[in-house]
Amino acid sequence: MTFARIAGIGSYLPGDPVSNQDLIARGVDTDNDWIISRTGIKTRHLAAPGVNSSDLGVEASRRALEMAGIEASELDLIIVATSTPDMFFPSTATILQAKLGNVGAAAFDLQAVCAGFVYALSVAEKFIKSGSHKKVLVVGAEVFSRLLDWKDRNTCVLFGDGAGAVVLEAAEFPGILGTAIHADGSKNAILNVPGQVSGGNITGEAFVRMDGQAVFKFAVSVLPSVAKQTCDTAGVSMDEINWLIPHQANVRIIEFVGKKLGMRPEQVVVTVGEHGNTSAASIPLAMDAAVRDGRIQHGQKVILVGVGGGFTWGAALLRF
Ligand code: ACO
Repeated sequence: MTFARIAGIGSYLPGDPVSNQDLIARGVDTDNDWIISRTGIKTRHLAAPGVNSSDLGVEASRRALEMAGIEASELDLIIVATSTPDMFFPSTATILQAKLGNVGAAAFDLQAVCAGFVYALSVAEKFIKSGSHKKVLVVGAEVFSRLLDWKDRNTCVLFGDGAGAVVLEAAEFPGILGTAIHADGSKNAILNVPGQVSGGNITGEAFVRMDGQAVFKFAVSVLPSVAKQTCDTAGVSMDEINWLIPHQANVRIIEFVGKKLGMRPEQVVVTVGEHGNTSAASIPLAMDAAVRDGRIQHGQKVILVGVGGGFTWGAALLRF
């Protein structure tokens, strides 16, 4: 039987950190204490004009490939989870493929907003398990700042730009122990970007719109349950989990989910303070930090949980 294992991981944040004070200096009507107490966010990174998701994704991918000891030419599948693609088409995955210098791998984008990375991992695992693909690059890359209305303080302070990537390889023993993904389209109105393109123009509003309290309630209900579902299906008890890596949207959601799952605070990886909510990039950004600083060790079990617009949610249980 063939399984998927994580062979390498990398991440990338563009430019210098932009603090809450910097946002105030740029004219956002907010205050540092409000943002920190409600969200835990201290800084975010904003891509310069002309820098796109594929540019951030390619940097993260190079780092993941280097850790895996794999050349880009060896990849046979590239999946990019993004809600901020470079263009309507072609896919950001094919643009990133060209920048990496790979020819011939299958490449496509996957759109599940902030749950995009766990969705993409789940899909990639199935390609590997089927035996059809052996070396897969999974990327979460976003320039969410392009969707922000800087006059809407309810949303603009929450998000940032960044990318994370993992290289998955076929293996004899499982590195991905289980995944679960779900959606409930009836909740699409509580978080969306209601813009459309027609006749070369954008109609409607191409800005993030959110009912923050509804999002909060939904996230704290589905994230613990999908983590438990994934562990139960894999036959792994929560006591065996070494690390929880939740979607990095908001420190209060993260703390709530950690407590509900019985994790100690020091077992929960939290990086949202440094980069804000980077949507599909947030989980690999946090995981890369915890791998590279030595917290996550070989043989340990890690549960990833993500939730995003749609609503979409999911989990992946990994053994490093
Ligand atoms: N700075 C200062 N004050 C603000 C700001 C801001 N940036 N934003 C809102 N306020 C004010 C409001 O105007 C309001 O003032 P008022 O009482 O005078 O009218 C007050 O703060 C309270 O506003 P609420 O919206 O009730 O604030 P709440 O306590 O619900 O916190 C928040 C808002 C942080 C968005 C919260 O609802 C939350 O954490 N929601 C989760 C949403 C989230 O994390 N989304 C991320 C994207 S979704 C995802 O990734 C899945």
